[in-house]
Amino acid sequence: MDTMPDAIASAVARRVDEAGRVCVLTGAGMSAESGVPTFRGTQDSLWSRFDPMRLATADAWRADASLVWAWYRWRMRIVRQAQPHAGHRALAALARRHPCVSLVTQNVDDLHERAGSTVNAHVHGSLFALRCFDCGLAYDGPLGDFLSDAQRVPPMACPACGGGIRPGVVWFGEALPDDAWDAATDAARRCDLMLVVGTSGLVHPAAGLPALARRHGATVVEINPEPTALSGEADHVWRATAAEALPGLLAASA
Ligand SMILES: NC(=O)c1ccc[n+]([C@@H]2O[C@H](COP(=O)([O-])OP(=O)(O)OC[C@H]3O[C@@H](n4cnc5c(N)ncnc54)[C@H](O)[C@@H]3O)[C@@H](O)[C@H]2O)c1
Ligand SMILES: [Zn+2]
Repeated sequence: MDTMPDAIASAVARRVDEAGRVCVLTGAGMSAESGVPTFRGTQDSLWSRFDPMRLATADAWRADASLVWAWYRWRMRIVRQAQPHAGHRALAALARRHPCVSLVTQNVDDLHERAGSTVNAHVHGSLFALRCFDCGLAYDGPLGDFLSDAQRVPPMACPACGGGIRPGVVWFGEALPDDAWDAATDAARRCDLMLVVGTSGLVHPAAGLPALARRHGATVVEINPEPTALSGEADHVWRATAAEALPGLLAASA
């Protein structure tokens, strides 16, 4: 395992250049430098006393949909106001330059897309892909006032059945969307190199993708300022943030 900052930039860039297929797996840390808080980082907000694990569930919605919806509107507002950073842009540039880069994200924001990337799989869904909690109908109506700081906002009503309109994310305890999971596992199995950026490796089954890639012969590189549950199984560990490491990687690759 290689942890020297200078050596690692050129070592990883060489791996990228040599790899026929690269898979990039991103987590909440990818968006942290755009100002979108992670679940496990420190955060200073009116929501800091709420535990995401208790809000991001179907049971929480059934118990108090207005509380859950207000929390999601707060998260949607942060994402709408955030901009992609140099790391998002570096990944988009890498995909234009390299013959095969797949991007698999656990993030529910759209910062990769807004930086110019094509996302192969949003394994945990997308904040803005709204649908009815009861009948599943996709909702593309108005979102209402985003600026309210209210701690309870009733969700919009489904035009078909009157059920509450929920965010298009995968809640704890829910199955991952089949098409996204199939695309993610396919990319993991086929890649020669996996870059794992900004994920704690605690949320399964997504946290199993690096091990899957490795079992199929890929080299795994972790980019994260902190040690994680995945560090031990990485071939290289790059202790840097996404906005530092990814532009550095792009600069060092051919
Ligand atoms: N932006 C988003 O879409 C968003 C935000 C919060 C949570 N989530 C959801 O919450 C779940 C949490 O799992 P997770 O593993 O993605 O995140 P996590 O919150 O569990 O862990 C975040 C990881 O990012 C690392 N990190 C922090 N700042 C970083 C930086 N600047 N550069 C690189 N790494 C950095 C941390 O050390 C940590 O390991 C995911 O399922 C995700 O869908 C998404
Ligand atoms: Zn409905």
